[in-house]
Amino acid sequence: MRTSSHTLARLLGDWSSGPRAAHRRLTKLIRLLILDGRLPLDTAMPGERDLAGALGISRTTVATAYAALREQGYLSSEDRARSRTRVPSPSASRVTPETAEAGRELIDFAHAAPPAPGEALHRAYTRALDQLPRHLPRHGYTLTGLPELRAAVARRYTERGLPSSAEQILVTNGAQHGLALIARTLLRPRDTVVLDHPTYPHALHAFRSTKCRILPVPLAEHGWDLDQLGAATRSAAMAYLIPDFHNPTGLCLPGPERARLRPGCPVIVDETMAELAIDSEAPPPLAAYHREVISLGSADKTFWGGLRIGWVRADPGLIARLGQARTATDLGTPLVEQLACAELLEDIHTILPGRIADLRGHRDHLLALLAERLPDWRVREPSGGLSVWARLPEPVSSALAAVAPEFGVHLAAGPRFGVGGAFERHLRLPYTLDPATMRAGVDGIVAALAAVRTGRRVKADEPAPF
Ligand SMILES: Cc1ncc(COP(=O)(O)O)c(C=O)c1O
Repeated sequence: MRTSSHTLARLLGDWSSGPRAAHRRLTKLIRLLILDGRLPLDTAMPGERDLAGALGISRTTVATAYAALREQGYLSSEDRARSRTRVPSPSASRVTPETAEAGRELIDFAHAAPPAPGEALHRAYTRALDQLPRHLPRHGYTLTGLPELRAAVARRYTERGLPSSAEQILVTNGAQHGLALIARTLLRPRDTVVLDHPTYPHALHAFRSTKCRILPVPLAEHGWDLDQLGAATRSAAMAYLIPDFHNPTGLCLPGPERARLRPGCPVIVDETMAELAIDSEAPPPLAAYHREVISLGSADKTFWGGLRIGWVRADPGLIARLGQARTATDLGTPLVEQLACAELLEDIHTILPGRIADLRGHRDHLLALLAERLPDWRVREPSGGLSVWARLPEPVSSALAAVAPEFGVHLAAGPRFGVGGAFERHLRLPYTLDPATMRAGVDGIVAALAAVRTGRRVKADEPAPF
């Protein structure tokens, strides 16, 4: 794969303002593009002269940035004329001021994933271990999932308004595994996939790695344009939607609109956040309105990412097909985690209220902080999920994410959530950290933003703002 100078210039956006010399800014931004997947690994970079021309800067600036990226291990150094993107191997990495900065403990505003409900998780694993002896005489491989977990997941769908049976459930190693498996099994290269824009970045990754064409349908500030979505799906092989507390915007498609949707192709509905309704109950799953929908679920946001348990709900024929197809890459989900997840689902009615109350408090705290410290950012209050999607007054999201580590914060730039360099005016901020850490993180963002806006370097003797 290669990237042209014009594509890279578009990905870099308005990179020319910010602190530090131009070659340092360019180095940081290209590094950010590699680290967040917008420049895939092993991509051939444009030549120095071409990129300098596309950016309207001197070739020396590009050459210096490329040399720094090579030195840091982000570009291959075997053939200078055809540098390719890569990430440094831990053994090869040298300690430079930049890698030292990257190694510092940063406030993580880049991942939207809550901590575990400690006691409940401990209890679930203890009960899982108690049950383990009963499984030990058998081989322990479960291609479609442990019967008790499949039944527990089906029961939860039924409670949420979608009658389901265990044969309709395939247990996977997280929702992402389920999505990649569906994409690999049902799609062919050059098939068109319709998706919300913005969307979940690793979904883009899954569809790109099956070489599908992406057709983004913009999400309006208040939600989905059903007519546009219906029209786009008529020429597509598949649609991927996140109608339940959408990542990154937090939007939820109301029940009556679910009924009004007229998809023209099969739809994968990602319900990873569906249990995280903060303000009012979520509507029934989209598959309750459209029988042919393939639902994708996860225990990893409801309970804990470390579980790595997800599932697909579809008709039993497709579930059996996916179960067979998974043998190309894995032979089932770890048994103790499945047992623990079944226990957690058993206890969901006692676990969820506390988690939702915490999330509500954290969301309100973050919204208050943003109103106080960044009053010119526009933020819509999400009614569930894990993040807010802020609109910035200027297109500086990547520049901000590139300098934020100097101010103690790790950010995911808006364009990670889109295609073609969109969303430079947006930033996703999760409310999964504790309030004091969020306050320190917002302080760091304010300082980083000031540096981006003025192009001023913070003096070395200024106290770190975190
Ligand atoms: C919308 C969406 N889908 C899928 C996933 C991946 O879920 P899992 O951790 O179960 O693989 C995430 C995780 O952030 C997500 O936000």
